[in-house]
Amino acid sequence: MDRYVVVGNPVAHSLSPRIHARFAAQLGESIEYATLEAPADGFRAAALAFFASGGRGANVTLPFKVEAFELAEHASDRARAAGAANFLARRGEHIEADNTDGAGLVADLERNARFAIAGKRILLVGAGGAARGVMAPLLEARPAMLVVANRTAARAAELARRFAARGAVRGVGLDAIPHESFDLLLNATSTSVHGEPFPLPREAMARGALAYDMAYGAPARSFVDLARGAGFAACDGLGMLVEQAAESFQLWRGHRPETAPVLAELANLRA
Ligand code: ATR
Repeated sequence: MDRYVVVGNPVAHSLSPRIHARFAAQLGESIEYATLEAPADGFRAAALAFFASGGRGANVTLPFKVEAFELAEHASDRARAAGAANFLARRGEHIEADNTDGAGLVADLERNARFAIAGKRILLVGAGGAARGVMAPLLEARPAMLVVANRTAARAAELARRFAARGAVRGVGLDAIPHESFDLLLNATSTSVHGEPFPLPREAMARGALAYDMAYGAPARSFVDLARGAGFAACDGLGMLVEQAAESFQLWRGHRPETAPVLAELANLRA
């Protein structure tokens, strides 16, 4: 049976095994997908041992996405743009890296939230790894403008510079967010994960804008409540998780699973 894992630390509560089990059942494929917790300083050894023992592919989550990228002999354009990988696959003698996070975000916005990115004004708050991982696919979807705002303004400016050739993007500090009536606010900060308040830039947003947290579940609750309380539509990143998993499954197996029933099941579980 083909074996897959999600590697992280911590990883025990990952939803990925459940999601991939549903995908496999749906498509009548027999795979094994487990969690693999690597020690903080032991990602490389754990991943190499998994592939040496015949493992076919791995999803990679925090804090190992940069190390996963560095481990692979080949990387996709979007993984190189992100400088990080959430996807590894063994192809013959090589390990290949990809990054399906941005595609997952774009798919969730466009298919599940029915938010067409083309021509829209997007405000992305945060300039760390989570932000960098989604920049290329976001710009590829051709928003009218993408503004990256970050507590440390220099990091936002640097991120915008790195992606300038891919579309209309600029970087600013949180205190210099232009009032552009943004249609979409993306929270790519670590505030939800760390239980810190999110600095919601109300005045910069259009009435009825969508506020989206790339984190999901209980940690994203306060962001979603805050945004709804301010009159915006809001959701967390559960759909992004399911869509990045579908993109991974397709890359490994060559077939794309239906995400809607899996997303509905997970949403019901927590309701
Ligand atoms: P990740 O890989 O999850 O993006 P990271 O690289 O540590 O993690 O980045 C965290 C992001 O959240 C950064 O953009 C950080 O802002 P700084 O670059 O100024 O550190 C942002 N962030 C973290 N805590 C924040 C807070 N309390 N308010 C606003 N932004 C915050």
